[in-house]
Amino acid sequence: MKYNFDQCIDRTNSNAVKYAIRESYFGKKDVIPLWVADMDFATPECIRKAVVERAEHEIYGYSIKPEGYFNAIQNWLKKIHQWEIPKDSIYFSPGVVPGLVFSILALTEPGDKIIVQTPVYFPFFISIEGNNREMLINPLKENDGYYEMDFDDLKAKIDSKTKMILLSSPHNPVGRVWKKEELQELVEICVENNIIIVSDEIHADLVFAPNTHYPLASLSKKAKQQTLTFMAPSKTFNMAGLSTSFVIIENPTFQEKYKALLESYHLANGNLFGNVAAEMAYEKGEEWLEQMLVYTQGNIDFVTAFLKKNIPQIHFLKPEGTYLLWLNFKALNMNDSQLKEFLIHQAGIGLNQGTIFGENGSGYMRMNVACPQSLLEKALIQLKTAVDLLD
Ligand SMILES: Cc1ncc(COP(=O)(O)O)c(C=O)c1O
Repeated sequence: MKYNFDQCIDRTNSNAVKYAIRESYFGKKDVIPLWVADMDFATPECIRKAVVERAEHEIYGYSIKPEGYFNAIQNWLKKIHQWEIPKDSIYFSPGVVPGLVFSILALTEPGDKIIVQTPVYFPFFISIEGNNREMLINPLKENDGYYEMDFDDLKAKIDSKTKMILLSSPHNPVGRVWKKEELQELVEICVENNIIIVSDEIHADLVFAPNTHYPLASLSKKAKQQTLTFMAPSKTFNMAGLSTSFVIIENPTFQEKYKALLESYHLANGNLFGNVAAEMAYEKGEEWLEQMLVYTQGNIDFVTAFLKKNIPQIHFLKPEGTYLLWLNFKALNMNDSQLKEFLIHQAGIGLNQGTIFGENGSGYMRMNVACPQSLLEKALIQLKTAVDLLD
């Protein structure tokens, strides 16, 4: 492998959220941090070099996004996702979550209902309720660890107040890469009921063969008109601190409303280093991404084999995409707060508690495996030792 993903990089003095706030979040500052969704791998060198080169310029003033920035996004989407989009459909977003909030503010009214499919990335909840909209919960159906959308439940719950859905695609935390047919069925329901689809596709590039990510808006003319698609190179290339998200909007009414809101907050410019990094990532990052996915797949296989051999009570279904595992701890027979305490204080590992993703996350924990395998091994050995002591 050309890139060294085994390298352990010390992040303790870099103000990394994953490391720096362990004490306040877990109450223990030395838990092995397998929580926040960024990677412990070095951001690709070509990106770091481009940022350093720009940083060496004497002035960091206001900057535009150059033609190359838009070309890089268009070429990436065409090559990686077979999706051709016009340049003028690309709008900036300071982050995917702020962009979800802008979409909610621009396209719905207080009191409107917005659909979420739990268990799901928890900032969706505050984005809705923090802006005086109501959550309509359409839980995913689970069968032996495999999650699917529950269209019957969705159709039964939609009413005249239901105006939008926040979709996680690929899905965080359950790791599903939605099939074309599933997305098409969702589009049909949304078009029929005039529900705007806000598709959070931040994990689009993090997909394991033979699965394919389909940008929902690319599936049909109807889908394109119904959808705002949020994407970013931030998860893909480990540069979440650089503010590099964007949204693709092809419906003229949505474009106008989103743009007006963004401009009213004077937020359309973005971060000069983020622009440089995003362009370079999409231009030169493909080989790094391919190898990172191979390494991460190896980590997933490693966890699978370790648990099967040593702690078969804890299990998960291999994710189709994302570097996040949705571990089922139900066989340990603990309630959620006991499980949380056990993992922090007996096992010494920091995971995301399942219930923050929704009520049906009870008994689960989310584990981030985008780290050197040696760190994962250490965490799993600590977990095994703690579980053995329970017997
Ligand atoms: C589904 C999903 N959306 C959005 C984000 C965060 O996006 P941003 O940092 O650009 O707001 C994450 C990060 O984990 C995520 O998993």
